[in-house]
Amino acid sequence: MPRPKRARAAQVAPTPQEGPALRIAMIASECVPFAKTGGLADVVGSLPKALRALGHDVIVIMPLYGMINRERYTIRPFLAPMGVWMGDTEEWCAVHTTTVDGVPVFFIDSDKYFARPGLYHDADYNDYLDNPRRFGFLTRAGLQLCIDMGFRPDIVHAHDWQTALAAAYLKIWHWNHPVLGGAASVLTIHNIAYQGVYDASHYPYLGLQWGNFTSDKFEDHGRINFLKGGIQYSDMLNTVSPTYANETRTPEGGHGLAMYLNDRGSAYRGILNGVDYTQWNPETDPLIPARYSASNLAGKAICKRELQLRMGLDPNPDIPIVGVVSRLAHQKGLDLLAGAIEGLVQNALVQFAVLGAGDKGLEGYYSLLPLRFPGKIGSFIGYDNQLSHWIEAGSDFFAMPSRYEPCGLNQMYSLRYGTLPIVRATGGLEDTVQQYNEHTGAGTGFKFYEPSVHAVYYTIGWAISTYFDRPHHMQQMIQMAMAQDFSWERSAKEYVQLYREAIARKRGM
Ligand code: ADP
Ligand code: GLC
Repeated sequence: MPRPKRARAAQVAPTPQEGPALRIAMIASECVPFAKTGGLADVVGSLPKALRALGHDVIVIMPLYGMINRERYTIRPFLAPMGVWMGDTEEWCAVHTTTVDGVPVFFIDSDKYFARPGLYHDADYNDYLDNPRRFGFLTRAGLQLCIDMGFRPDIVHAHDWQTALAAAYLKIWHWNHPVLGGAASVLTIHNIAYQGVYDASHYPYLGLQWGNFTSDKFEDHGRINFLKGGIQYSDMLNTVSPTYANETRTPEGGHGLAMYLNDRGSAYRGILNGVDYTQWNPETDPLIPARYSASNLAGKAICKRELQLRMGLDPNPDIPIVGVVSRLAHQKGLDLLAGAIEGLVQNALVQFAVLGAGDKGLEGYYSLLPLRFPGKIGSFIGYDNQLSHWIEAGSDFFAMPSRYEPCGLNQMYSLRYGTLPIVRATGGLEDTVQQYNEHTGAGTGFKFYEPSVHAVYYTIGWAISTYFDRPHHMQQMIQMAMAQDFSWERSAKEYVQLYREAIARKRGM
């Protein structure tokens, strides 16, 4: 009997997802639903679930911040005490745990470092002075936990400067350890502007050895640079969109680290973030006033009216609303929007719904706008997850005039909610929004290139004129936007491929 089946199977090239299930330890400074300041938390909350769905064994390790609600998430004691050797002293902590959607999450409990109201800074946005020690400790404690509970990771996945040292610790300290010796490291850079640069006096505590305090590793103009060390030591590394990966390879986009990224060659790449559609889907979203779908948009009109009422806007269904949900940081370009917004509400029929917190000057500016332009601009200064869902659902457009944007999640949420993004074509915004074509009506949003008030003003003006003059194009774009699929499954498969390459590099294959 010929055995055609077997012969044919042998000719099929293995897909990147094939291979044994991996054990992955993710160490991060924030994770949804426990603690969040930005998109990093969304990613660390979603990617492990998606990896688990692909059959991998993932744990998440993060700090037990003072603001985390232990009862709500049934966080219970797991291990105590746990000793963690830092470079020049031993620290003691406890470990707590819970499970979210099948993913075990472990919390490092240290009163000394994490029992504070903020994640990184106090209420006045002053960084905690011991941040290098806090996050150096978190990282070592995460590795120690793997040892103490006998979790032999194939991959240790670090995120941003806060846990970038994991890669270095694995190579400097644990290269032949029975539990950690086989672990390869992956570093994900969510924002290269935040590098963790601190005074060299913290170096002995971190235990990285003075011989490594060189300009190609940790040293940066006499100071310590956590992210630079991570770039040097990680087996593979990525950022969160292909365009941002290219931008960070340039002097301007690399914030001083382009040369080191370029040195890593093909070990550095861009993987687009995904969207957790269990949280961000207008068909099922329990947080919004009414649910809707691409085939029945009636609920979106209800969401618009409710948003107008909640934010003090004239409840007129025929005036377009531009929504904003953002950290008020230089990166996000909301100073550019500030230069355009007054002219827009004076010269055009448009309303704005703004939610944000951060820069004190911008907070003051945006908080006064509803008083100066009543019925036309609504704003809320602070952090409000429910309101962010209302703005996504109730607005017609969503503005992200970012100077740079490694990925950006809100434009992807907006697409699913049929709220057309108006974005600067940078980083992940460039990769996820398709430019409107006035001739065909194709596209999913409105893009501009120059980071200027002028560009913001006229691009929002372009969107408004499309709303009034070409409503059939609006309908076409809304349908196309809502059909976009940025689910995590695809991104998670790319991470698995990255992990496998990291393991191959580590083993010198
Ligand atoms: P970044 O991480 O740079 O802030 P992202 O677009 O990746 O940008 O992610 C921002 C996340 O934080 C989104 O989930 C967004 O809805 C949320 N967010 C930002 N500011 C606020 C706020 N003031 N209130 C509620 N959610 C916010
Ligand atoms: C950073 C970036 C943002 C990205 C997020 C998650 O906060 O500023 O663009 O979406 O990380 O990767």
